[in-house]
Amino acid sequence: MTARLLAGPDLAAGAESLPGHRARLGDLPGRAEREHLIPTLLAAGLLGRGGAGFPVGRKWESVAGRSRGDAVVLANGAEGEPLSHKDRVLMATRPHLVLDGLELAAEAVGARRAVLYVGSEHTQARAALERALGEREADRARALPRVPIAIVTPPVSYVAGEESAAVHFVNAGDPRPTTVPPRPFEKGVGGKPTLVQNVESLAHAALIARYGDAWYREVGRATTPGTALATVSGGQRPGVLEIDLGTTIGELAQWAGVQATVGSPVLLGGYFGGLVAGADAWGMPLDPAVLRAQRSAFGAGIVAFMGDDACGVTTIARIMDYMAGSSAAQCGPCVFGLRAIADAAARVATGQARQDDLARLRGWSGSIAGRGACRMPDGATGLLASSIRVYEADWVAHQHHRRCIARGASAGAPA
Ligand SMILES: Cc1cc2nc3c(=O)[nH]c(=O)nc-3n(C[C@H](O)[C@H](O)[C@H](O)COP(=O)(O)O)c2cc1C
Ligand code: SF4
Repeated sequence: MTARLLAGPDLAAGAESLPGHRARLGDLPGRAEREHLIPTLLAAGLLGRGGAGFPVGRKWESVAGRSRGDAVVLANGAEGEPLSHKDRVLMATRPHLVLDGLELAAEAVGARRAVLYVGSEHTQARAALERALGEREADRARALPRVPIAIVTPPVSYVAGEESAAVHFVNAGDPRPTTVPPRPFEKGVGGKPTLVQNVESLAHAALIARYGDAWYREVGRATTPGTALATVSGGQRPGVLEIDLGTTIGELAQWAGVQATVGSPVLLGGYFGGLVAGADAWGMPLDPAVLRAQRSAFGAGIVAFMGDDACGVTTIARIMDYMAGSSAAQCGPCVFGLRAIADAAARVATGQARQDDLARLRGWSGSIAGRGACRMPDGATGLLASSIRVYEADWVAHQHHRRCIARGASAGAPA
C-alpha cells in the first residue's frame, strides 16, 4: 500500500497545519507550470472518487471551456453514504490538500467563487476546514490567487451529495436532485458553469500538480493508475486506508483481519454498489475499470465484508428501507417503487412473505432502474438484484420455508 494522500503525521493527530503541510509537501508549482495542469490531469488518468469514476481532467476541460471567468467550483464532501468514511477522514486530517486542489481547480477552470460542501454531520471535518481557511487567510507566502470560499452544510441525507442536489441546495436551500440537463457543468451554482468534484479527487489533483502525471502513474497494479482511499468494514480492523488501485480484495481482507480464507460475500461500492460472492471476490482487483467490466463497482471505495453468519436477506431489507426513507420522494420510482421494494423485502426477511413477494422483487429490480431524476433507484435496484443473485438460497429459504439459512433459525427470529 502506498501512502500519498494519507502520508505524513499520524491520522490520530488530527488536522495537519499549514506550516506542516508546506514543510512536508513543498510549494505548489509556479504559474507557468500550473497553466498545463488540465493536460497533466488528463495524462495522469485520474478518475473521480465520488462514485461515477469520470475522468477529472475532462470535467475541468468542459467547465473551463464554458467559463467566462465566472465559473464555480463545488468541492463535494457531503458523504451521505452510511458505509463511507474516507471523505470526512481526509477533510479532518489533510484539509490543506483538499483546499490546494480546490484553489487549483478554481484557477484552472476560471472560477470566481468556490464552495466547500460538507455534510452537516461531519463536524470534525468542518472544524478542520474552517481552521485551515483561517490559516490560509493569514498566509503571505501563498502561490495561488485568492478565490472566495464558502462552507455550505447540507442536512444529513443520502441524496444531498448527488451533484444536481448539491447545486440545488446552494442555490435554493433544497437538497433534492433536479432534472438534468442542464447539468451542473453547463448551468450550476448561480446559473454559472460549475465543477462539482469530490474532495478526494481534488486532493489527488493537488499532488499531481506538484509531482506530475508520470509520478501519479507509478502506482497502480491493473488498468487504472494511482491510489485511492477505501473504507473497509466487517473485519477486525475496520477503517479508512489508502490502497494502490488494483490491490485484490483478498489482500485487503488480510489487512482488515477478515477471518474467512476463501471468503463470504463482499459488498462493493456501498448502497449504490453490489454484492459479489466470496469465491469470485477474493482475487478481484480493486480497480474501477476492471470492476466495471465485470459489472461490479468500485464507487466511492467501499469494501464491506459480510461475514459468514450475516443474513444477506435481512441486511438488504434494512438497506432498502433506508434507501426508500432517504430518497427525495419526488419521482414515481422512489415514491412507489422503492417503498414497495422495501416493504416486500422486510416481509421476506421477517418470515411474513406473501406468495409472490420474491418474484415481484426479481421483477422490480429490473424494471424501475433509469426512471428517476437521479440514479437513486438504479443504485437500490442494482444492489437488490446482486443480493438475490449472491444470496439466492437464503432468499428462497426465507420466501418458501420462512427459514434463515445463515442463522439456522426461523426468519424473523432475533439475531
Ligand atoms: C444519490 C447520490 C448521492 C451521491 N453522493 C455523493 C457524495 O456524498 N459525495 C460525492 O462526492 N459524490 C456523490 N455523488 C456523486 C456526485 O453526483 C458527483 O458525481 C460527484 O460529486 C463528482 O465528483 P467526482 O467526479 O470527483 O467523483 C452522489 C451521486 C448520487 C446519485
Ligand atoms: S429518483 Fe428518487 S432520489 Fe432521485 S430525484 Fe427522484 S425521488 Fe429523488
